Amino acid sequence: MASSNRISRRNFVALMSAALGSIMGVVMGIPIVGYLIDPALKTESGEAWIPIGLLEDFPIGTPKSFSFTRSHVNGWEKTVNSYGGFVVRKSETQLLVLSSRCTHLSCSVNWEEARNEYVCPCHNAQFSMEGEVLGGPPPYPLDRYEANVEDGTIMIRFPAVRFDEVEG
Ligand code: FES
Repeated sequence: MASSNRISRRNFVALMSAALGSIMGVVMGIPIVGYLIDPALKTESGEAWIPIGLLEDFPIGTPKSFSFTRSHVNGWEKTVNSYGGFVVRKSETQLLVLSSRCTHLSCSVNWEEARNEYVCPCHNAQFSMEGEVLGGPPPYPLDRYEANVEDGTIMIRFPAVRFDEVEG
């Protein structure tokens, strides 16, 4: 009888040890599982206000280019994309910020000072200084960024939107 009780106690201790070990494993494992799964649940919002430079560094009367990068996180996958555009200051108070992405097939347009227009090198499209289509296949004007000046720095809202969405 005493032997049977001793074995039973041993079994009880072994069972309790196994149970405590299992509980500790689960308690310690939750943060690890969370750490491993967390990136899969994350997606970065694409919208943000981005500083592109000091207002005083952009001359009045001629477009000046700028560029920036944005990273996009989707689960474990992170991609970094480059974006560009032009700041057009027609006066001290008039500020227009255009995307340099051609609205035809997304090539980058260049400002051609001598022609007074943006030119797309892919299919020779032309856009006015304000981004209107002057010629070629693009279906829409260049996209515009909503812009503000905060403490002398130009801030743009990413992503850019179509011209008609800005004009409302
Ligand atoms: S991509 Fe610009 S004209 Fe085709």
